[in-house]
Amino acid sequence: MIKRVLMVNGISRQVVCEQDESLANVLRQNLGLTSVKIGCGTGQCGSCSVIVDGKLIRSCSMKMRRVGDGAVILTTEGIGTPGNLHPIQMAWIAHGGAQCGFCTPGFIVSTYALLLANPKPTREDVRDWFQKYSNACRCTGYKQLVDAVMDAASVMRGEKSIDTLAFEIPKDGRIWGTKYPRPTAVAKVTGTLDYGADLGIRMPEDTLKLALVQAEVSHAKILSIDTSEAEKMPGVVKVVTHKDIKGKNRITGLITFPTNKGDGWDRPILCDEKVFQYGDAIAIVCADTEKNAKAAAAKVKVELERLPEYMSAPAAMADDAIEIHPGTPNVYFEQRIAKGGETAPVFDSAAHVIEDDFYVGRQPHMPIEPDVGFAFLDDEGKLCIHSKSIGLHLHLYMIAPGLGVEPDKLVMVQNPAGGTFGYKFSPTMEALVGAACLATGKPVFLNYTWKQQQQYTGKRSPFFMNVRMACDKDGKLLGMETDWTVDHGPYSEFGDLLTLRGAQFIGAGYDIPNIRGIGRTVATNHAWGSAFRGYGSPQSEFASEVLVDMLAEKIGMDPLEFRHKNVYRKGSTTPTGQDPEVYSLPEILDSLRPRYKEAKQRAKANSTAEIKRGVGISLGVYGCGLDGPDTAEVDAQLNPDGSVTILTCWHDHGQGADMGVLGTAHEALRPLGLSPDRIKLVLNDTRHCPNGGPAGGSRSQVVVGRGIKAACELLMGGMRKADNTFRTYQEMVDEKIAVRYNGKWSAPATECNENGQGSPFTSYMYGVFMAEMAVELATGKATVEKMTCVADIGKINNRLVVDGQMYGGLAQAIGLALSEDYEDIEKHATMKGAGFPYIKQIPDDMVVEYVESPRPEGPFGASGVGELPLTCPHAAVINAIHNACGVRIKKLPALPEKILAGLKG
Ligand code: FES
Ligand code: FES
Repeated sequence: MIKRVLMVNGISRQVVCEQDESLANVLRQNLGLTSVKIGCGTGQCGSCSVIVDGKLIRSCSMKMRRVGDGAVILTTEGIGTPGNLHPIQMAWIAHGGAQCGFCTPGFIVSTYALLLANPKPTREDVRDWFQKYSNACRCTGYKQLVDAVMDAASVMRGEKSIDTLAFEIPKDGRIWGTKYPRPTAVAKVTGTLDYGADLGIRMPEDTLKLALVQAEVSHAKILSIDTSEAEKMPGVVKVVTHKDIKGKNRITGLITFPTNKGDGWDRPILCDEKVFQYGDAIAIVCADTEKNAKAAAAKVKVELERLPEYMSAPAAMADDAIEIHPGTPNVYFEQRIAKGGETAPVFDSAAHVIEDDFYVGRQPHMPIEPDVGFAFLDDEGKLCIHSKSIGLHLHLYMIAPGLGVEPDKLVMVQNPAGGTFGYKFSPTMEALVGAACLATGKPVFLNYTWKQQQQYTGKRSPFFMNVRMACDKDGKLLGMETDWTVDHGPYSEFGDLLTLRGAQFIGAGYDIPNIRGIGRTVATNHAWGSAFRGYGSPQSEFASEVLVDMLAEKIGMDPLEFRHKNVYRKGSTTPTGQDPEVYSLPEILDSLRPRYKEAKQRAKANSTAEIKRGVGISLGVYGCGLDGPDTAEVDAQLNPDGSVTILTCWHDHGQGADMGVLGTAHEALRPLGLSPDRIKLVLNDTRHCPNGGPAGGSRSQVVVGRGIKAACELLMGGMRKADNTFRTYQEMVDEKIAVRYNGKWSAPATECNENGQGSPFTSYMYGVFMAEMAVELATGKATVEKMTCVADIGKINNRLVVDGQMYGGLAQAIGLALSEDYEDIEKHATMKGAGFPYIKQIPDDMVVEYVESPRPEGPFGASGVGELPLTCPHAAVINAIHNACGVRIKKLPALPEKILAGLKG
């Protein structure tokens, strides 16, 4: 143990700690300074950045023995507070720099240090600085952060008034369509928003800390589990195994299609008979400290019989492959598509035919905040689970039977989440903390390391695709044939739904009269497939968007004009035979055309013998909602002071659920003339909130948004008097009129049939992406120099939120195109190893423009947004690489060595 007196944020503080403890832990645990976030824990993300004796450091990597007595430390708490914001914090809010907000305090501290060192930085100086100090953000795409730094610097130099950073409500009082800052923004920029790990620190003293015993092989039979030595370790209260679980010990996929050959009960909470994938949880050690729990976990002995590991769909489909789930074939679901007439005669007589194979891999979500959660029994004996879940009611029913808890005895709550991007559409640790809490009767807390986050949460499911297209002599598409294989890992939850996406989105955006194809879902022993932004479209549309480019090239047509000729127009139908609700793609392409021409000229002018430049485009389309009559419920309640409370589950990945609810409710309640601060939000707690449905498939703005509108209209209906004025709360009570109303909306949509035909979504999003690339011929290194997107996501609720979604999605698509992967379980277990895009990989030059076609079914004309920017920009990147240097990459990611091999080939 050592003692240190530290000058923290101008106050002298004494700490006693282990000399090997990290400064980050001491600041958080001993001093309660939870603005210091621990993301990667290994010096790769910058979320723990603080200034020590004038130097910017990552405090997770600094041991206390290196921190001198009297060290002067500055954290975000010392830069500005909610009542006294620093210009950097104001600028972060003004530019929407805090999305999930988990990286934000680290960036604020880093910016503070930058502006001390260089009060007048250029944009490139800012980017160099964040690159050098590994400040990583997964949500924003970085552009807004540089904008914020530039503005803050101007204010600090006295060149700009701080008032320019404050939002002013327009004179008409309307915030719909503005840059009104999200309600959590101030807490995020000041580091005062408590995420799961921060809440963990504030749990009762007897809270047990959990450590998992996890599989280190990918497929095995469990012969025995010996916990005896672990139980004797210091501080250990209990080692929980499958024997302690009172229910079925399975997480159910819940919505398994009738033709699925499995029953959806394939995922153990704690492994009993088999290990199905690397990282599977086998036991949970519950101890007084995390350190003791981890030490004891290493002592649990698990005897295994290794089984063949099928790490890809082709391996699991081999004739001699054994069944991963005995009794269920590894190929457990098939989905066909049959639109229009037979394709064979079309292909026989077509002027041009093209065919190729494509692969999009296991993209990892890589939130900066690793998975975290806790559980306790409340005074009514209910099991309360707090996690990053983005589908509370869904998860409640997925885990209750496995735990042996009646659904009405289970409460699920979402903590503020430091990014999910879809991995939390699956339960991760919910059942684990639930099982540990039930087995011990104590509050329990579990925080994954970033490596555990990577190795034991779901990933994007790889698609292996073969696509053929036929067109006439003028380039009009006539038919398409598709074959796609989905590697869904060992657990089937939502695998059939994902496979259906291949039918819905291969070739989406184009009027293709005749389509035939089949897709299949395959169980493997690699990471289980979970939802990820774009859900099936980044795979499906990659195949068709690259193939369309190839077909255009083959027939000598410009790729933009080829697309323009074939996109949806009145009379066209989607691959599922649905009439699109708006026809904005021709207008979107028209709007891009002049910029596309300029970009091509730029590429030509700036290409050199060493660096070739090129331009590529792609289309993106995605449907908002869960297939068919997707439903959401919302309550609106009038409060005694005349304010209104909205209660629902609009789960927050970090995208801005709070702003989504507030913007929609404020617009709906305009007749009441309430200022935004008079609308209160109670969100994401199953004890209080009706079921809004999970936050996936860009459904929330449309489906929950309609629920909000319905609830607000019912409330105003109750309040409205004969003369069209509104009753007060007291008048409502006096007249015995209800003050709380439940609004419900179901999408008028139909599910797809066995041939993939139907009208599954009432509202779609449409976009065109353009990438400008530079390829270095000597190394194969490809760099995105500019990204442009023209999008139609309907009427925009909040511009900051929507821009943030767009830039962030584009950045993730660049990562998917060029670097991101989770194939190698060890190499890809760190941010750097998995190809996380830092700021210098993402162009500062990103342009997003909108064509706002009002959506007939969207609330106030809005569609969704989140999935669109990751539908298919990566195909634009790949098409641009081909345009630059002639190499066509069909298997992602396009690593330099692949491009180089193509150049040599
Ligand atoms: S750099 Fe410290 S938590 Fe990532
Ligand atoms: S806002 Fe940067 S990681 Fe979420």
